[in-house]
Amino acid sequence: AMIKKASFVISNTDYKKCPAPVMPEFAFIGRSNVGKSSLVNMLTNNKNLAKTSGKPGKTQLINHFLINDNWYLVDLPGYGFAKVSKSIQSTWEKMISDYLIHRENLVAVCVLIDSRLDPQKIDIEFITWCGEQGIPFVLIFTKSDKQGKQKTSANVRKFLDSCLEIFGDEPQYYVTSAQTGEGKEELLAFIGEEVEE
Ligand code: GTP
Ligand code: MG
Repeated sequence: AMIKKASFVISNTDYKKCPAPVMPEFAFIGRSNVGKSSLVNMLTNNKNLAKTSGKPGKTQLINHFLINDNWYLVDLPGYGFAKVSKSIQSTWEKMISDYLIHRENLVAVCVLIDSRLDPQKIDIEFITWCGEQGIPFVLIFTKSDKQGKQKTSANVRKFLDSCLEIFGDEPQYYVTSAQTGEGKEELLAFIGEEVEE
């Protein structure tokens, strides 16, 4: 799937106000600062489409982007951002979980994982929750440019081993870099299989 056209549509706190669920949708989620918004920009070849920041907690709403007049890419707020108050954290959690549970045109949640780190408890908890809820997900390892290939594949392997323990199988996964464009073709090919062009 080539992205020929990408535009911002709307930001919401409530899934009920999101665009009519008539086109397939893919959502990016993961820890704050993992690179969700940067990946939206990398895929769409537009550095300014989604707002990014060196500081975690930049994206605070459910952001819809319309791609090729044919499908939606959704940039979500990060989870596990300790610097916001408990009440804001639980508001975000409710907003995101309601969206993930009820959004009927959601094809898959793309769970972004920092490729530099050992498996993080919060990521494991999140995908376990997706599994329990029956929400389909794929893994996207981010920031592969930050270290050597061997380190990346070792961390990917560790994460997949954790998944094997929990689910008895390995989820589909992609290794990406918003910096170098690694993984772009593969990820768009996955989306392309799910949307009619
Ligand atoms: P929140 O909206 O706060 O949850 O963060 P986010 O997951 O949207 O992260 P964002 O895309 O804003 O990126 C966070 C920081 O990581 C920024 O400084 C980005 O430039 C940097 N970054 C993101 N992806 C990559 C990558 O693939 N490689 C490198 N080197 N830096 C990256
Ligand atoms: Mg963001």
